[in-house]
Amino acid sequence: MPHAALTGIDMSWREQGDGDVALFLHGFPFDAGLWEPQLHALPPGWRGVAPDLRGFGESRGHLDLDAYTMEQHARDALALLDHLGAQQAVVCGLSMGGYIALALHRLAPARLRALVLADTRAEPDSDDARRQRLQQAAEIGAQGTAPFVERMLPRLLSPATRHARPELADTVRAMMLRAPAETVVRALRGLAARPDARAQLPQVQVPTLVIGGEADEITPPAALEALAGGIRGAELRILPGAGHVSNLEAEHEFNTSLRAFLLAL
Ligand code: MLT
Repeated sequence: MPHAALTGIDMSWREQGDGDVALFLHGFPFDAGLWEPQLHALPPGWRGVAPDLRGFGESRGHLDLDAYTMEQHARDALALLDHLGAQQAVVCGLSMGGYIALALHRLAPARLRALVLADTRAEPDSDDARRQRLQQAAEIGAQGTAPFVERMLPRLLSPATRHARPELADTVRAMMLRAPAETVVRALRGLAARPDARAQLPQVQVPTLVIGGEADEITPPAALEALAGGIRGAELRILPGAGHVSNLEAEHEFNTSLRAFLLAL
């Protein structure tokens, strides 16, 4: 995998194709492997780039930081775009990747050519959710990530996916278990600290696709509708039968929508 020293860390990424950059930001606690099916399905003329975000996959973290905030991940992504010589990119983020895409819009809107926001939302955590994240971070510090991963997994995939494709649950579990405990703890603190992004939605001035699973428990269709409703002209696609990891659970439909969106730019 290519890698480079950026923003004080060694960052690695997967890439496929040549041309305009589509930057894929993974969810929590995954890695760039999440985007393999999309990297291989881009239309000609596109260079798909999927970084391992700070501390995940083969990218190194920075243990001096207590929290990996969405802004920090967005600064890392911008440094990667600089390194690749890409003035602009279509930024596609799933869940935490979507929070980071919105942070990137706050920091450097001119770098965005278009946005794909998958299974994500603009609202911050509720007080309760924030408390839970910090409690989970403390538990992981004491017990490691395995119990946390087992509790989270059933909420990630729809019942239909879990029943029909147990091997996909194994793939997702293995990816989550690869994330080091010190990264998961810092990422949880960063997620808990993310700001309310709703007020910025009317300022998004690039073509936007909001996409996600019909059976997503974490960002249900109502959250996707609210997100799309806040962004002028945003397209909304709800994928039947898919849960929170809709790009894997409904890979074909996700890729068809993504390709159509890119071809229309
Ligand atoms: C993700 O998939 O990135 C997480 O579910 C995000 C979150 O917990 O808010």
